[in-house]
Amino acid sequence: MVRVLFVCLGNICRSPMAEALFAHRVAECGLGHAFALDSAGTGSWHAGEEPHPGTRKALKRRGVACSHIARAVTPDDLATQDYFVAMDAANKADLLRLGADPGRVSMLLDHVPGMAGEDVPDPYYTGDFEHCYRLVDAGCRGLLERVRSLHSL
Ligand code: 4NP
Repeated sequence: MVRVLFVCLGNICRSPMAEALFAHRVAECGLGHAFALDSAGTGSWHAGEEPHPGTRKALKRRGVACSHIARAVTPDDLATQDYFVAMDAANKADLLRLGADPGRVSMLLDHVPGMAGEDVPDPYYTGDFEHCYRLVDAGCRGLLERVRSLHSL
């Protein structure tokens, strides 16, 4: 079982979108049994909340299911997750500061050719959930290819 944790700041916009879309792509490939997927925030202000309406709308119009409830990254995550996929450089720095194994931490757009090191801009501030969706979609496709290749899936 490959354990992947998608991480953003509030866990209501970008990382639940990435978790839901990655799960959708994994299911399309018939690989649901091979993954344990979750998402979390480096902050806990929104713990217990459903994803932002903008995230739910962007997913719903593509028929992607999403049932996450926001939570913060825990010490248990740091010990047990195989991959931490951060949405931006600040999330990545926060994960490393919390003690995540640097070899397990990447940014989502590191998995898109030509976009390594780029942030997924936060739609909580930009309001652009469609742009966010397109970046998350590209990142999830690249991440899935990479993990399938690394784990011979
Ligand atoms: P996210 O967006 O990190 O993509 O979930 C944010 C949501 C809430 C806040 C910041 C970012 N906030 O400061 O409340």
